[in-house]
Amino acid sequence: MFEVRILGTGSYAPDNVVKNKDISKLVDTNDEWIVERTGIRERRVSTGEETSMLSVEAARRAIKDAGISPEDIELIIVATATPDNFIPSTACMVQKELEAKNATCFDVSAACTGFIYAVSIATQFIKTGQIKTALVIGAETLSKILNWEDRNTCILFGDGAGAAVLQRSDKQGIISLYTGSDGTGGEHLVLPAVQLNNPYCKSNNDTKNFVSMNGREIFKFATKIVIKCIEEVLKDTPYTLEDIKYIIPHQANAKIIEFVAKKLKVDNSKFYINLDRYGNTSGASIPIALDEVNKKGLLSSGDKIILVGFGGGLTFGAQLIEWS
Ligand code: COA
Repeated sequence: MFEVRILGTGSYAPDNVVKNKDISKLVDTNDEWIVERTGIRERRVSTGEETSMLSVEAARRAIKDAGISPEDIELIIVATATPDNFIPSTACMVQKELEAKNATCFDVSAACTGFIYAVSIATQFIKTGQIKTALVIGAETLSKILNWEDRNTCILFGDGAGAAVLQRSDKQGIISLYTGSDGTGGEHLVLPAVQLNNPYCKSNNDTKNFVSMNGREIFKFATKIVIKCIEEVLKDTPYTLEDIKYIIPHQANAKIIEFVAKKLKVDNSKFYINLDRYGNTSGASIPIALDEVNKKGLLSSGDKIILVGFGGGLTFGAQLIEWS
């Protein structure tokens, strides 16, 4: 089995900044409530860029950071719940724009855990020797599936993309992986797709393609599962939480992260947080945060980090990574 390391990262978000007070003009809410309950102050909202376009920009930055050329990429996975189309996949659209002609391309649907799943899949491709280099992207335009009249959800989410180049390595990189799902909790976070409707089955369902959520249930699930994921990736390794420089969690709600930090008896500062500026960008949140940590120079070779995600499905997972 080969080792796998993260060679480069990139991220991109639309320029349009929407602050809490801007949303309070659309629904009955206010900055104080949103900051107090979530930690979110602003988010980016697309004024025309689709998920594939955000993906391409994040990918270009990751490719530059990695110092590779698009022809080196043998696998492109885009984690998204908000693709431009069902067909072609976002990954194929990215391939076309990058001219990454040697890549196999597909999308992964695992909601906010999408990037974690996609990194796990790419890691297996590289570990087994099938490929050397993969591009993994998490990208969303959640603004198009929000009900902007529903204050329970429209305050939470934002648009953006993050990417990472993974490559075969001689040195330890991705140390351990953990993924899981619990379909019995699927009803707590739902984004309907196209409804069944054909000459043999007329639909009387006018469901809109809006996300709906039972916030309390998701909160309970998140706080439990993030702890389990962290414990699972540390299990059977020589490392403990003390050895971890940063935990980069899915950026859903600062309260979830504070709760987890307290339970694990670690300082909040071990968790990297940028949700105050982006809101919850679902599959994009972890790679955007990872890119910030990388570009700010917060990591040195040998540092250990944990990426941890949770989301609709329900889905969850984590990676323990040695930075190099
Ligand atoms: N502004 C002002 N008031 C709001 C509001 C808003 N945006 N949204 C809800 N409220 C109101 C509710 O109507 C309710 O009022 P009531 O007591 O008069 O009925 C009150 O605030 C409390 O609502 P509740 O839904 O119980 O709040 P909460 O403390 O659970 O916080 C969330 C709501 C969504 C912030 C919180 O549950 C959460 O973050 N859950 C996790 C969501 C998540 O992470 N999802 C993504 C997973 S990948």
